[in-house]
Amino acid sequence: MKTIVITGGAGFIGSHVVRLFVTKYPEFRIINLDKLTYAGNLANLTDIEDAPNYTFVKGDITDASFLEGMFAEIQPDGIIHLAAESHVDRSITDPLSFVMTNVVGTANLLNAAKNHWKDSETAFEGKRFYHVSTDEVYGSLHNPEDFFLETTAYDPQSPYSASKAASDHFVRAYGNTYKMPVVLSNCSNNYGPNHFPEKLIPLLIHNIQLNKPLPVYGKGENIRDWLYVVDHARAIDTIFHNGTLGETYNIGGFNEWKNIDLVHLLCSIMDRKLGREEGTSAKLITYVTDRAGHDLRYAIDASKIMNELGWEPSLQFEEGLEKTVDWFLANHEWLDNVTSGNYQSYYQGMYANR
Ligand code: NAD
Ligand code: TYD
Repeated sequence: MKTIVITGGAGFIGSHVVRLFVTKYPEFRIINLDKLTYAGNLANLTDIEDAPNYTFVKGDITDASFLEGMFAEIQPDGIIHLAAESHVDRSITDPLSFVMTNVVGTANLLNAAKNHWKDSETAFEGKRFYHVSTDEVYGSLHNPEDFFLETTAYDPQSPYSASKAASDHFVRAYGNTYKMPVVLSNCSNNYGPNHFPEKLIPLLIHNIQLNKPLPVYGKGENIRDWLYVVDHARAIDTIFHNGTLGETYNIGGFNEWKNIDLVHLLCSIMDRKLGREEGTSAKLITYVTDRAGHDLRYAIDASKIMNELGWEPSLQFEEGLEKTVDWFLANHEWLDNVTSGNYQSYYQGMYANR
């Protein structure tokens, strides 16, 4: 039985990756290692929490001695690393927590894996360290014909993207220096169920329901490339199993949207779903002060993963947005609880002594 540690498995993307691995690979032991910050919720995983091949471990990747002890105990064969601070706006107000978790945490994890694996009988054979990263490390595109390729030079512009870029460099450095079996991916903006409502799409859905203003930064002209979260989880599965060691794969759906166009599309879907007159939600749009250093455009060229590994997105954007809205409307309780912090106190209490 293989043991796979998924870090950040209680977060938005991590919970979809945990669900996919727990259900698709009953022969794997899946360990979800998560600190349960404000962004991590075990309520994202209630449907699989009793599965015999699933275990949750509450822990902090910035704690090197905890990681050494945990790896000695559970003997992981693979690590899929998603734990991170992930919100650009928070990185502007509190950059150092991004350095701690994203840079120091990733270096700790690499080091613990290296020390544990190199001392084992089989060393690095059959092992794999998979680092999940973002397209934001490439910076901002200005020429409409340009796309981010795996070979695009790093040019991070926010404390978040700088911390992710640094973590990517550490992963490649461990691959090069210690011959660790590493693989990386850089994905575009995700959306879907369980998305924490500080990010654009769930924030809009939440505010439309409450008839609250819809804050659009600047003129709403920034462009993002959106991918349904389950398609990202499928890509991670593909790369973990079939990706070439030492390689990087860009993940995206060739699906660019100007923020203001996306806001209008979502308003119109919400009007229809809530039985409101078309145009009602759009009246809530409020232009606000732009984000500091706001990247203009992200756009991924995902040809490599499509051509070499045969992955492609399963959903068109409109279909994915409909599914996302349906999920949020059917899961009021989840949204109320994450916004009030109720899940945090419930689960923090449950795992306080572990
Ligand atoms: P998220 O903020 O929803 O979840 C992060 C998870 O990490 C949470 O469960 C949190 O509790 C956990 N965590 C944070 N600090 C920790 C620590 N010190 N120790 C252990 N656990 C800790 O993030 P997400 O949106 O699901 O992103 C997951 C990963 O994917 C991140 O590495 C992010 O950079 C990357 N990514 C995200 C997107 C996106 O659109 N959200 C796109 C591309 C890549
Ligand atoms: P976000 O979901 O924070 O993702 P990222 O910054 O990682 O791309 O933001 C997506 C886009 O939406 C980005 O251009 C910033 C913009 N935005 C708003 O206009 N208003 C908001 O309230 C938020 C959270 C984001």
